[in-house]
Amino acid sequence: MTTERSDNVSEAQIAVHWREEEYYQPPAAFVGQANASDPAILDRFAEDRFPECFKEYADLLDWDHYWHTTLDTSEAPFWKWFVGGRLNACHNCVDRHLATRPNQAAMIWVPEPEDADPVAITYRELWVRVNEFAALLRDFAGVKAGDRVTFHLPMVPELPVAMLACARLGAIHSEVFGGFSGTACGERIADSGSDVLITMDGYYRNGELIDHKIKADEACEAAAKHGHEVGTVLIWRRHPGRYASDRPMVDGRDHFVDDLLPDYRGQRVAPESMPAEAPLFLMYTSGTTGRPKGCQHSTGGYLAYVTGTSKYYQDIHPDDTYWCAADIGWITGHSYIVYGPLSLGTTTVLYEGVPTYPDPGRLWRIAERLGVTTFHTAPTTIRMLRKLGPDEPTKYHYRFKHMTTVGEPIEPEVWRWYHQVVGKGEAVVVDTWWQTETGGFMGTTLPALQPMKPGSCGPGALGIYPVIYDEVGEVVEAGSGKAGNICIRNPWPGIFQTIWGQPERFKQIYYERYNRDPASTDWHDWPYLAGDGAVEAADGYFRILGRIDDVINVAGHRLGTKELESAALTVDEIAEAAAVPVMDELRGRAVEMYVSLKPGMTASPAVQDGVTAAIEREIGKIARPTQVWIVPDMPKTRSGKIMRRVIAGISNFADVGDITTLANPEIVADIRHQVQREK
Ligand code: WT7
Repeated sequence: MTTERSDNVSEAQIAVHWREEEYYQPPAAFVGQANASDPAILDRFAEDRFPECFKEYADLLDWDHYWHTTLDTSEAPFWKWFVGGRLNACHNCVDRHLATRPNQAAMIWVPEPEDADPVAITYRELWVRVNEFAALLRDFAGVKAGDRVTFHLPMVPELPVAMLACARLGAIHSEVFGGFSGTACGERIADSGSDVLITMDGYYRNGELIDHKIKADEACEAAAKHGHEVGTVLIWRRHPGRYASDRPMVDGRDHFVDDLLPDYRGQRVAPESMPAEAPLFLMYTSGTTGRPKGCQHSTGGYLAYVTGTSKYYQDIHPDDTYWCAADIGWITGHSYIVYGPLSLGTTTVLYEGVPTYPDPGRLWRIAERLGVTTFHTAPTTIRMLRKLGPDEPTKYHYRFKHMTTVGEPIEPEVWRWYHQVVGKGEAVVVDTWWQTETGGFMGTTLPALQPMKPGSCGPGALGIYPVIYDEVGEVVEAGSGKAGNICIRNPWPGIFQTIWGQPERFKQIYYERYNRDPASTDWHDWPYLAGDGAVEAADGYFRILGRIDDVINVAGHRLGTKELESAALTVDEIAEAAAVPVMDELRGRAVEMYVSLKPGMTASPAVQDGVTAAIEREIGKIARPTQVWIVPDMPKTRSGKIMRRVIAGISNFADVGDITTLANPEIVADIRHQVQREK
């Protein structure tokens, strides 16, 4: 398979093609209780029912005003769902459950350190906290409908409270993953035009209370460099009344939330009735250029889609204890820790810390203690726990009925450990392929109706019609064994609306490639390009191979090669940089940096460390490369483009492809010699 541009790195190119696997059937006990156990649901979402089939998802919500048009395509590819409808997302996730289950836990938070008790927050209590914080946001910080508010919050209940408070006001939240650097946060603040930053002074990880306030200062500084002043920084204290940082508070800008809140005790804020098409939140993700993309998700379509998929694919029932062990800082957490589960009125678990501290039994202890019924994590975590504590799950008395995997392809042998050891052979396993942009699941199995096949995510989700196209837009037939670019032929309610402030880029990246007529308002002419390589088996199940663009998925985190390279170029000695993906046993893929030096500079470990430090500063520790190679020159085309594909081939001991057209083919052997000798 070739890629869009000759110089880009493609994960899909270095993917391992594992063989077709056997099917596994769901346990009878699961099928008996499943939300979707009648195959008639597949007919209700058949292609000739599109787009009205999605009414079934929207009808799971409370609407202030019902919509008049299910799908408006007049401004293709800017799809509008449930037009004319009005609703409030916070009302749907909180208020509407007060009549039926006020005293059920909406959330259970498991803090670090481990000797601290879990904290349950009932729907009634969540309602109180959300109202009070919404009043503070409105009256103290001046937040109103349509304003953007950036969060840089860790895994604490204050994060969903802040999301729901914004939703209540009709304000657009933009949570930046806590592990991102202050600089990365500041860029996103400026891009979204947020006047308010909400953060916390510190949080626990690996037994340590980490200073997080320092990142708020860096973020404000970085935003200012982009010409954007942050007016208000609201800081929750991890231990109210006890400041965890030694960073000074900035007069007039910084405020402790726990000092302000008493003034808002007992206050109630009416949920703002928002148009279905009003943006609910932004979620930034990496792409082909250095500038992160603010994926804008809608209120009505998004909430309908995550509620529907949570019901049928996560099989969430209100009396479940549902635990998605992801971070809310990613789309997985927004859709499947907060909005989907709370909309369905279940109990959602969040935890602070990591799966391996204090030991690799942590997750299973939590599962046992809370009686978790439904579990959700990423292949990278499964691989790590399988390596560090292969027998740990057997030591704990929990019983999962349903388990999800998300974020990367899962190797069949890792899948089998998840199924047999973590799931004790009793849980159904649902692999879910989707993206920040898609809002919810795209390729997966209906757990009671479609068998599992390790290594394949499954067919298109209800109402989703994927297709694989080759380079010239011909359909790659199912069962042909050929890989191609996976696209979704139709729009769906969870699709993001645009890239914040960059509508042209939105069109170009996702729709231009296979568009049949730029003037068309017929959705059939606008296949959505997902950016992944994939293979479709004869049974309609998809195997995802990895990204076809300049994105590297490290442990389920999407990193842009351009972002990594521009961080490296901030180091004085560096002339050129290339980031390439390498296969990694635990993280799926890892990043290796190749750099060349400016004339007169000498290679040294200090230069290598400088590159790593720059990447940590500009992006965050999650982007840290496993290797920094200083090479005499980069393989280049005659027009001077760095051939990352060639470098990736060397790093992965794989075929480097045709190098005869390079300007400097001799460098390939030099680099290979240098790198493969040391590996
Ligand atoms: C990319 C999207 C969706 C939430 C987490 C990641 C890869 C995602 C799977 C899966 C194989 C997967 C794709 C995709 N991916 N899920 N089940 N099997 N690959 O969201 O950060 O937007 O990344 O993750 O390459 O394009 P994201």
